[in-house]
Amino acid sequence: MNQIKKMLAVPAAVFALWAMSATAATNEELAKRLEPVGQVCVQGQECKGMEVAAAAGGGGAKTPDDVIAKHCNACHGTGLLGAPKIGDGAAWKKRADEQGGVDGLLAKAITGLNAMPPKGTCADCSDDDLKGAIKKMSGL
Ligand code: HEC
Repeated sequence: MNQIKKMLAVPAAVFALWAMSATAATNEELAKRLEPVGQVCVQGQECKGMEVAAAAGGGGAKTPDDVIAKHCNACHGTGLLGAPKIGDGAAWKKRADEQGGVDGLLAKAITGLNAMPPKGTCADCSDDDLKGAIKKMSGL
């Protein structure tokens, strides 16, 4: 094998391995996340998650924790780009006061605000999904 081929072959093999393990980790994570639903929702028995899903129009169960973990935490977890931090009640209250309460914050979350993307990147979130996430992050 000439030198150039060797140099190309090694990183390609490493990348393939990395890609495979990354996929496995994601699938495992997904399976773990889905596990509790599979265990809790038994036909003919009460299933809280499914009731919420039905109430939301069958768009899939979204708890505030789900929405925050998947969409909001990326910025609001650390205060990235100046986002009010999760649990920083004072920062959220100040904003709520400026916007006329949680509904005012919701309106801004839907349209977006500067570095805050519309719906916080959760395009299929209902207003209620977003409101639940805002309440949970702000403690309002
Ligand atoms: C890409 C980063 C990012 C993501 C993702 C994000 N936000 Fe934000 N958010 C921001 C930033 C930055 C601000 C502050 C904007 C400003 O005041 O200029 C903000 C502000 C807000 C505000 C306050 C608006 C106001 O009127 O002061 C709300 C409410 C909010 N975000 C909700 C959410 C929700 C709910 C999610 C998840 C569904 C989310 N955000 C996801 C960056 C993000």
